[in-house]
Parts: sequence; C-alpha cells; structure tokens
Amino acid sequence: LRDLDNQKRMDHIDSEGMLEATYRLVNVFANPSRFRQRLVSNGSRKDLVFVGMGGSASAGDVLLDWLSERIKVPSHMVRDFSIPRFVDAKSLVICLSYSGETKETLRAFQMARRRKCGIVGVGSGGTLERACKKFGIPFFHVEPGLVPRAALGQMVEAGARALQHARLVGSVSEELRVAGRELEGLRDKIEPSVPMTRNGAKLLAFRLKDRVPIIYVLDRMSSVARRFKNQLAENSKVVAKYESLPEACHNEVEFWTGIGKTFVPVLIRDWIENSEERLLIESFRSTITRKEKKYVEVRMRAKSSLGRVLAPILFLDYVSIYLAILKGVNPGETPRIKEYKEKFGAKI
Ligand code: F6R
Repeated sequence: LRDLDNQKRMDHIDSEGMLEATYRLVNVFANPSRFRQRLVSNGSRKDLVFVGMGGSASAGDVLLDWLSERIKVPSHMVRDFSIPRFVDAKSLVICLSYSGETKETLRAFQMARRRKCGIVGVGSGGTLERACKKFGIPFFHVEPGLVPRAALGQMVEAGARALQHARLVGSVSEELRVAGRELEGLRDKIEPSVPMTRNGAKLLAFRLKDRVPIIYVLDRMSSVARRFKNQLAENSKVVAKYESLPEACHNEVEFWTGIGKTFVPVLIRDWIENSEERLLIESFRSTITRKEKKYVEVRMRAKSSLGRVLAPILFLDYVSIYLAILKGVNPGETPRIKEYKEKFGAKI
C-alpha cells in the first residue's frame, strides 16, 4: 500500500518513466504547436477513415468521440491491415502510427495509395514519414522518443490539426487550450506526489488490485473505456474488458448474478449527461448491483467536449500505472508487443 507514496520505489519500478510521460501528456494542450503543412483540400471528402493500431488507434478513437458532432461525413477507425471497400479516391485516410513502423498501418497506407485516396500521415517519423515525403503526402510530426501510448496527447493534437487543415472541422485551437487547463487541474490532484489518502487514482488502483475490471461507458465515449482496457493490459499487465451502454443492458446485464469478488464493474460517466442517459445508466447500475461498495464510478469534472473525453482518460491512465507499481511490474515495458512485431515484421 505504501508503495504508492514511496517515490523511490515508484521510480525504481517505473524505470522507463511512464509517470513522467503521463504528467507531460497534458502539456501539449497547454501549448498547442503550430503545424505548417497545408492540405490541398477542396473540403469535399465523402468519408474519413483513420487507420492505426494500439496506442495510435486510441488517438483516432478520441478524435472521433470528441468531434463526432462536427464531422459531417461518415467516419471510422480501422484497426487492420486493409481498408474497407467503400474507401476510394474521394475518401480521406489518416494514417496514425507513432513509430511509423507498424506493419498493419503501413499496409493500409499502401492500399490507400493504390486506391488514390487523399492521405495524411501522423507520427514521430520512421517508414511512414519517409513514404509520405517520397510521395508528397502531408505528414504531421509529433515529438519522438516516447512509448506510443504515452504520446496520446500529441497524436490527438496532430490528428485534430490534420482534420482542421482538411477542412473537416473548424478551428480547434481554443478547445485544445481549454481542455489543457481542465486537464492540468485534474493532474495536480492525482499526480504521484499527492498522497494516497487524497489521491483518487491511487485509491482506485488499490481497489482494482487482483480484480478483473469490466468497464462500461456510454457508446459516444467508448474511446475512454477501450483506452483504459488497453492501458490495463500494456501498463499493468491486467486483463479487462469493456462494453458500451445501452447495448450491455440487452445482454451482459445477465452476467451480474451471484458474482464473486473477481469481477468489478467500472462505470465511466460523463460530466455532462442528459436526463435520458442518466436514467439509462442508473437503471443499468441498479440492475447489476444495489450496493455502492460493489461498483466503481469514474466521473471527472470537465466542461469542454475534449476535456470530457480526456479527463477520465488521464485519470485512468494514472490508475493503470499505479496498479502496475502496486503489482511490482514495470508499466513502461511491453516485451510481448515487441516480440509479436518482430515475428510478424520479419515475414511480411
Ligand atoms: C506501445 C503501444 C502500442 C502501439 C502499437 C502500434 O506503447 O502503445 O499499442 O501503439 O503497437 O504502434 P505505433 O503506435 O507505433 O504505430
């Protein structure tokens, strides 16, 4: 328990500096960078497809949840090495790869080129950047040297700039700044120097230890749940699952009878919900459990539409790292992802 208030022990386990990287995740919004690239866009793309995997795909999810009310064309996040049939010369394909070396994403990039789609690259360099340069494709550059999942802030910002320059959304600068301020306020309450007794993220990590979190969220915010599930896997080496509402009310709700202590429902709430959404979540929650001790509710104060998505993500990112430390596992190391990439990359 005391591990989480022992800075030395935390630094020892977190030798790759995930806590520091998470602290800095917010900074990018406080000082949005200036991208110079201009897309030659007539603003009439018929649809939008993000392609990417893992941490980079999380950025696409966040962008789609955040901007869903504003992007007027059908928009999708594709996590695969091929792009769907409907994607053609009138589509915009935004390839997200922090390292620029993810084979699946590079394959999708090649396919998009063959179909003559409008393409944009986002990442820190690598093969993706070189290919973009070679073919005169705009590339939005983010700071190198992080693990991809810790670059979420920058990937979101760069992706938003790409959408802005493609004229799929209006200016996002002010919203990035407002979200930055909201996130700074939250970070100051949950960062490592805030002791366990007052630190909600540390307390939640403690509550989740040795449990399997089953995460629920409104469908329009599913980026938050998926990100938490992935962060639990990559940082804490814990398996979890997520499901969105109201769909889970029509099937998974049946799971929660006579459940022991292994599984714990984690309900991610939005700071601003309409009355229908509140009723739906309350009905679901009281159907699966009546006792407050038996579920976890995550609800972070944020008013901007970007802040409302990123605040719970920031909180839960910290939870996943604290949980890793409690378990004594290094949150920054992902040797199995590396192994998979080597095996797949060697043969493709
Ligand atoms: C590792 C991580 C992974 C990667 C994924 C794709 O920190 O988060 O999920 O994001 O393997 O790699 P990139 O993002 O470089 O395309």
